[in-house]
Amino acid sequence: METLIPTTSRIVEHLATAVLLFDKDLQLVSINSAGESLLSVSRKRVSGLRVNKIWRNSAFLYDAIQRSLLSGTTCIERGVDLNLNNGQQIKVDCMITPVLLNNFADEILVELIDTHSFVRVLQEVNQETIQAAAKESVQGMAHEIKNPLGGIRGAAQLLEKELNDKELLEYTRIIINECDRLRNFIDRMLTTSTNPVKSDMNIHEVLEYVVSVVRAENSHEMNIKKDYDPSIPIIKADREQIIQAVLNLLRNAVQAIVIDGQITLITRIQRQVIIRHKSYRHIIVIDIIDNGPGVPSEIESGAFYPLVTGRAEGTGIGLSIAQQLIQSHGGLINYERKGNKTYFSILLPTEQYDE
Ligand SMILES: Nc1ncnc2c1ncn2[C@@H]1O[C@H](COP(=O)(O)OP(=O)(O)OP(=O)(O)O)[C@@H](O)[C@H]1O
Ligand SMILES: [Mg+2]
Repeated sequence: METLIPTTSRIVEHLATAVLLFDKDLQLVSINSAGESLLSVSRKRVSGLRVNKIWRNSAFLYDAIQRSLLSGTTCIERGVDLNLNNGQQIKVDCMITPVLLNNFADEILVELIDTHSFVRVLQEVNQETIQAAAKESVQGMAHEIKNPLGGIRGAAQLLEKELNDKELLEYTRIIINECDRLRNFIDRMLTTSTNPVKSDMNIHEVLEYVVSVVRAENSHEMNIKKDYDPSIPIIKADREQIIQAVLNLLRNAVQAIVIDGQITLITRIQRQVIIRHKSYRHIIVIDIIDNGPGVPSEIESGAFYPLVTGRAEGTGIGLSIAQQLIQSHGGLINYERKGNKTYFSILLPTEQYDE
C-alpha cells in the first residue's frame, strides 16, 4: 500500500491537466507541475494562498468552488476566463470535485484544462496527417521528375556539341540551366527525408548564426530583437537541420515585414508539454515573431503544405521543410496570430519523452 502513494503523486505530477487541491478555507494545499505551468506560478509562492489570490477577477469560479464545497457535489464549468497575476488571460474548462470525509467536504479538487491546448492538439493531428501525405507525394513526384530531367539535360548537352550556330547555343544553355534549377528544387524538397544526426547543440549559437546569415543576405538594416533564456541547456539535435528550419522561418519573417518592421526571437523552457501524443517534462520553445500582416487568410489553413505560397516569387516549400525537420526531432512548429504579431513557434523536445 505504501508504494501506492508515491505512485499516485507521480501520476498527478505528470498529468497534462492542471490539478489544484484547496482546504475547506479555500487555501491552496497542493498544485501539480501542469498547474504551475498553466497559471505561470511557482508552487512555493502560491502555497497557502486563498483561491482568489491565485488568479484575479473570477468571482464566477470562486462562487462555483464555494457552492461545490457547501453542497458536496461536483461542478463543471466551461470556457471560464481566468486573469492571471502576470496580466495574461486564459480560457479554461474546470471540474470542481469535493473530497468527502465522513460525508462532509473537507477539501476541494480543482482541475483546469486550457481550452486552447485542445485546439492545439487538434491542429497537431491535422499537421501530422498533412505532413505524412505531403512527404509521400513529394517523394513519388521527385522520382518521376528526376529521371526524365536527366534525359532532357543529357540530350541538350549532346545537341550543344553538334551546334555550329553560336546564337542557338543560348537555347541549349537555357534548357540545361532550367534543368539544374528544377533538380536543385527537387533536392531541397527531398532533404527532409534524411534522419537527424544528433550531437551537442547550443540553440543560441544556432540562432546567432542564422541571424548573421539573414543579415548578410539583406543589404538593409534589420531590427532583430533577442530575448534568450540563458538557462537553456545544450541539447542533442542535428545542427544543420535546425539551422535550415530556423532559417526558413526567419527568411519568411524578413519577407513579411515592411518599413518599421520588427522581428523578435524569444527562447524559453516550457514544462509538462504533450507533443504528438508524447509527454515531455521540458521542451524548448523558440518564437520567431514579426509585426507584418500575418499569413494571408486564403492560404492560412494550408501554409505548411508544400507548394502553397502567398508570394509571387515564392516556391512554397520553406514552411513544409521546416515543419518536417522539426517533426523529425519529435517537435512541432505552430503558427499563431496574436494581436498584430505573427508567431511561428518551434517546440523542440530536449530529452526522451516520458513513457
Ligand atoms: N512570417 C510570415 N508572415 C506572413 N506570411 C507568412 C509568414 N511566413 C510564411 N508566410 C506565408 O506562407 C507562405 C508559405 O511560406 P513558405 O516559406 O512555405 O513558402 P515561400 O516563402 O512562399 O517560398 P520559399 O519556398 O522560398 O520559402 C508564404 O508565401 C507567405 O505567404
Ligand atoms: Mg519561405
